[in-house]
Amino acid sequence: DGEMKKWDGAMHEVYSPIYLKTAEGLVSKRIGSYPLATEKEAQESLNAAVIAYNDGRGEWPTMSVAERIHHVESFTGKMIARKEIVVKLIMWEIGKSHADAIKEFDRTVEYIYATIDALKNLDRDSSGFTIVEGIASQSRRSPLGVVLCMGPFNYPLNETFTTLIPALIMGNTILFKPPKFGTLLHYPLQEAFQEAFPKGVINVIYGRGNIIIPGLMQSGKINVLTLIGSSKVANELKKQHPKVNRLRAVLGLDAKNASIITSKADIPLAVKETLTGALSFNGQRCTALKIVWLHKSIADEFLKQFNQAVSELKFGLPWEEGVSLTPLPEPYKIDYLKECIADAVAHGGQVVNENGGTVKASFFYPAVVYPVNKEMKLYYEEQFGPIVPIVPFEDMEEVIEYLIESNYGQQVSIFSTDSDELAALIDPLVNQVSRVNINSQSQRGPDVFPFTGRKDSAEGTLSVTDAIRSFSIRSLVAFKMN
Ligand code: G3H
Repeated sequence: DGEMKKWDGAMHEVYSPIYLKTAEGLVSKRIGSYPLATEKEAQESLNAAVIAYNDGRGEWPTMSVAERIHHVESFTGKMIARKEIVVKLIMWEIGKSHADAIKEFDRTVEYIYATIDALKNLDRDSSGFTIVEGIASQSRRSPLGVVLCMGPFNYPLNETFTTLIPALIMGNTILFKPPKFGTLLHYPLQEAFQEAFPKGVINVIYGRGNIIIPGLMQSGKINVLTLIGSSKVANELKKQHPKVNRLRAVLGLDAKNASIITSKADIPLAVKETLTGALSFNGQRCTALKIVWLHKSIADEFLKQFNQAVSELKFGLPWEEGVSLTPLPEPYKIDYLKECIADAVAHGGQVVNENGGTVKASFFYPAVVYPVNKEMKLYYEEQFGPIVPIVPFEDMEEVIEYLIESNYGQQVSIFSTDSDELAALIDPLVNQVSRVNINSQSQRGPDVFPFTGRKDSAEGTLSVTDAIRSFSIRSLVAFKMN
């Protein structure tokens, strides 16, 4: 199902993170292949986007908003017709459960329709004339140029379309490189793009980012870099652009979201929310809770209930009913997680839940690590996997200091039943992160909410109306009335 046609470069064979039992033991299944674009092919794809944009004079950037919406709606219909194969590939390529893969698909479709609605309203608001001091003006939202778009493996569809759709609908032309894991599912969607959009408006390239992306950035022909992924990669890419000060970047990056459980927390609620916040899709979400600050006075009771809840999570293959922990798609991730645990143990921590950190094929049993301290990697690094580091605290000032010093600033969750305590915490916390969740886990949704972060966690704001703004510039046509 996942076979693609060959280009000039070599083909990359894709093996699933799902291991199947065979007579030879557990074997990873080959699920398809994709072409590795050569640097020349990548430049040709870029040139196609440059020609279609034609310095803002192309058919797409000059098309009316209504017509562009019509193309996006036509694409969405073709995408929906391919739902079954896309969902299947999400499961086989990145090990996401069937329920979560369906959810990812459906919320992406909703996101596209919400973007269309928001654009219609925004267009209505901004296209009227105003007359001030004898000058009649009409404001518009104009495109920015050629957008290089890259998304992550964990939400290969939703996170990609979070940037790609608003960039496209605003009249930019696109060069899109699918993520390293979660590539094959873009092949049926590429066909839908080809059927729904004029030539050159959206160009998909498959290949190794470290080989093809530097040349694209160095060409100076990219006007907007949009990436949901790693802060390190984003910084390296920006530096490669010869006119970096003219490059717009719209980025969703690393995070180390904290769950803060105060002495007055409702423990069962904090357990339930922290559990799914930290471990859904094996903790592989940029929005996941990646460190827990736990008040010492309730530590024993919280840990007892939390470890029990972890032990009830169901492990299994993506199509099994009620499964919440599934195979990890990145082959090198398990070694990294083991290294984090060894480092924590060397600095005085322990895995405090039964079987925590045990490995079978591409499964990693979640590890609850306690007590975590500032000597450990798990205190600072974004583990992006099924480890829950827990730091005991007595004074809330320690937590605030941690958040101030952190390189990241996406979200926090606070758990307390005391409204005065909550009220006193909101202001200091909202000035450190871009979203404070009260008695609930961190998450992106609903997807119409603005999605951003402070410090190294983001640049620009995503989600529907904000994304429309991020991928366009407000311009004005003014008439002097005599
Ligand atoms: O990894 C980042 C995703 O946008 C997370 O979305 O919080 O709904 O899982 P989510």
